[in-house]
Amino acid sequence: MEVIIQPDYEAMSKAAAQLVVDVLNTKPNAVLGMATGSTPLGLYLELVRLHKEEELDFSRVTTFNLDEYVGLTVNHPQSYHHFMNKHFFEHVNIPRHNINIPSGTTSNYPAFCAWFEQRIAECGGIDLQILGVGSDGHIAFNEPTSSLSSRTRLKTLSKQTIDDNARFFDRREEVPIYAITMGVGTILEAKKLMLMASGTAKAWAIAQTVEGPVTSMVTASAIQMHPDAKVFVDAEAASELRHRDYYEFIYNAKPGAPRT
Ligand code: F6R
Repeated sequence: MEVIIQPDYEAMSKAAAQLVVDVLNTKPNAVLGMATGSTPLGLYLELVRLHKEEELDFSRVTTFNLDEYVGLTVNHPQSYHHFMNKHFFEHVNIPRHNINIPSGTTSNYPAFCAWFEQRIAECGGIDLQILGVGSDGHIAFNEPTSSLSSRTRLKTLSKQTIDDNARFFDRREEVPIYAITMGVGTILEAKKLMLMASGTAKAWAIAQTVEGPVTSMVTASAIQMHPDAKVFVDAEAASELRHRDYYEFIYNAKPGAPRT
């Protein structure tokens, strides 16, 4: 795992965007795994800027989103469909038919989840999965005690996640209790992972993710088992890391490091 500590949110977002650019330069028809929430907003802003000002091309890209709330229609202002359209898809040139987001309104969740997994496999798997992390250490909506080999499925959200996400809704009671989410096992199959976090509210989750034991109590810790995972954090999210100096030392020494 590589930990990339940037001074602030903007610098973190730009460093993360550079990884997406590197992947697209190597593979213009890459399959990208997308995340929603506050954390990747700066990343999407930068990617949109690169598309508009520097001709970053998404025309051959395919995307799979991590999750969606159960019960929210695609046009609901808090649905992840709406979020992705508003903050990213409406501003770049990804063909509509290449965009895959879990359905929050299917009449048959097990069949939909199986189809979603199959579709990822048919597209050759995810090349780069973008991840945020919940304050309880979840990735996607894999809440504490989710199996580390779980696949796309329905999950009940934790009280902490419902509290955290209530800020996006008018009333806490409006936050859906269920979500459809990629599993930890699904996520770990992506060829590359990039997890982003900013702010002190994420400091505990980041310390557990990077330096804690691999445990289903903090599903983000499962990325320790991935051979190509990068963690992008700002100084606040890095504030509880015990080996912060070491991660900065590695990052600064990187330009002179032997090529692998
Ligand atoms: C959203 C997702 C979630 C969020 C996490 C952090 O697609 O997968 O795991 O990444 O809840 O959310 P924010 O970024 O709003 O703090």
